[in-house]
Amino acid sequence: MKILVTGGAGFIGSNLVRHLVNKYPDYRIVNLDKLTYAGNLESLRDVESNPAYTFVRGDICNGPLVTEVFEEYGVECVIHLAAESHVDRSILSAEEFLRTNVLGTYTLLESARRYWSRKGSSKRHVFVNVSTDEVYGSLGTEGVFTERSPYEPNSPYSASKAGADHLARAYFKTHGLPVVTTHCSNNYGPFQLPEKLIPLVILNALEGKELPVYGKGTNVRDWLYVKDHCTALDLVLHRGMPGETYNIGAGNEWRNIDLVKRICRELDELIPDSPHVPHSSLIRFVKDRPGHDMRYAIDATKIRSELGWRPGHGFEEGLRDTIRWYMENIEWCNRVRSGAYREYYEKNYSRR
Ligand code: NAD
Ligand code: DAU
Repeated sequence: MKILVTGGAGFIGSNLVRHLVNKYPDYRIVNLDKLTYAGNLESLRDVESNPAYTFVRGDICNGPLVTEVFEEYGVECVIHLAAESHVDRSILSAEEFLRTNVLGTYTLLESARRYWSRKGSSKRHVFVNVSTDEVYGSLGTEGVFTERSPYEPNSPYSASKAGADHLARAYFKTHGLPVVTTHCSNNYGPFQLPEKLIPLVILNALEGKELPVYGKGTNVRDWLYVKDHCTALDLVLHRGMPGETYNIGAGNEWRNIDLVKRICRELDELIPDSPHVPHSSLIRFVKDRPGHDMRYAIDATKIRSELGWRPGHGFEEGLRDTIRWYMENIEWCNRVRSGAYREYYEKNYSRR
């Protein structure tokens, strides 16, 4: 199978490329990534010389380039992850989110449609559109998101992802493009950029810096280990039904403040002689994120019952492994935090 993965140098993308290359040595995996501030080829060092893997640097909004990639590599399936992915950045400036998430998704859908209609349907083509649970908006204290929950995006990020989903749906309905859309909850694990809550808290705590908790810290997120997201995408690629959508999540809800305290306790145990013990003394409540969604919770019954997916990692084990990974990969962290990251950190947190 010749698979185009977009955004393969990002957090989930790099974990997915590693999963596919190791599990399917006879597949060809082409990673198309622009290498924005969020993309990092160092995250793929261990697979870069694998003959099953090819990297192409490029923008998914560049139609001629995307068409060339389809033709040159004979792309049969797409797993589309490339996106601007950080809510706080979309509040500071939304334009790049609209460009990459909406126009970029359109460019890929259109290129796939043209290329696959020319090739005919002898092969099983699939376009996996990796979306998010955030398109459903915010829950109160009760209830869960199902695949039938209405779209109610609240941030420029989630609105741009919703726009992409609507285009993907339209390409299935109008053109018969075999699109499958997934809605996953919050991921955590190795190679996540420390602009997101879990790695940000781990690294700040290790360095004795403040741990910024937005508002009262009562917002709830449903956390999934990234490798479990990858096994779900693998199943959707091979067995997902075109035109269908699948929610992905492990039913693992945490209030932000409880999660941050939990990370602090783990660090207290892992490094009892740190001058920053107890790490929870570093917690600071800061100005809330505008439009901050209160709660996300996923009902993953459909992917469990129809595709047989199960998360393979418990939260205790996953969180500990993640904390250890950041402690052991400080060089990776320092490199991704240089330059553009520092500028963003200053902008987002200095006057909070
Ligand atoms: P990320 O920000 O870590 O990585 C995004 C990748 O896309 C980077 O490698 C970046 O260089 C690349 N990219 C950005 N713009 C591009 C463009 N115009 N052309 C080509 N490449 C471009 O993101 P992530 O957290 O790995 O998320 C991946 C996907 O999964 C996104 O679509 C996101 O919406 C979705 N998702 C993420 C989560 C999560 O918790 N992180 C949960 C559900 C869904
Ligand atoms: O639900 C899936 C989504 O999860 C993905 O679509 C997004 O790409 C991904 O970034 C993530 O979005 P969140 O906004 O939920 O993740 P983030 O890590 O930014 O924040 C998690 C929670 O922690 C949220 O309630 C905001 C809060 N927070 C975040 C940061 C960065 C803080 O309290 N302090 C912080 O410094």
